[in-house]
Amino acid sequence: MKPRLIIGNWKMHGTVPDALKIITGLEHQLKTAPEVEVAIAPPATALYTVGVSIQESFLLLAGQHCHWEDKGAFTGEISPAFLADVGCLYVLVGHSERRQHFGLTDEGTNKIVQASLRNELIPVLCVGESEAERKNGKTWEVLDRQLKVGLAGLHTKELEHIVIAYEPVWAIGTGNTATPGQACEAHHFIRNQLGKRFDAPSANAVRILYGGSVKPDNVEAFAREPAVNGCLVGGASLEAADFAAIVRIMERVPSSATTEGKK
Ligand code: PGA
Repeated sequence: MKPRLIIGNWKMHGTVPDALKIITGLEHQLKTAPEVEVAIAPPATALYTVGVSIQESFLLLAGQHCHWEDKGAFTGEISPAFLADVGCLYVLVGHSERRQHFGLTDEGTNKIVQASLRNELIPVLCVGESEAERKNGKTWEVLDRQLKVGLAGLHTKELEHIVIAYEPVWAIGTGNTATPGQACEAHHFIRNQLGKRFDAPSANAVRILYGGSVKPDNVEAFAREPAVNGCLVGGASLEAADFAAIVRIMERVPSSATTEGKK
């Protein structure tokens, strides 16, 4: 199994100096390289500078979003090729805020997944149901659709370059985290669907992260769950001490995994 993966999603927070301050804080807090993978997804404007500043460290770089074309007349968009160029290894795809506020469809996430793979980025496909969907018993239907469409056209071999993040929309930024039981149920469902669509060994090797109000004081319960292979952290990743604490807690569960490595 690959090592656990913790990604800090800074969303639209932080100027370049702010970003460098968080990096300095993280390097200070995490003096020895953790036995888990740690990636940060700063705003696009800080990617290059942050990428240079973490070149010698264990920290990995992630984009928050990208377009499905490598270049062209797409004002304001970010090319997957450019994310790779500044040293990103990962890119979040289909974060619920992209789906909610910018009209990203499942078909759009599929095009971005394909574009990411083409550019040697590892897409972190974010899936998750809204509060209303959960209340109306639609959780499995929604997850199934987001996975089926989001990963359409992929070959089984490509699954080894995919990460899935289960982020129930009602848990994001609300402080209302899912229970470990709810997360595990969803993670098992996701792995099962991947197994049916591809094959069981490939599905078993996919890391499935939990995201939604992960904090130092609730992450331990997720860390104990074998079904949770890491987490996607929003708000708490903006505080170096909190993010470092999350990393150390996730690290405590031993892993005998091989790493995806640094590019
Ligand atoms: P949160 O965000 O940790 O602030 O809930 C998670 C995310 O949006 O990825």
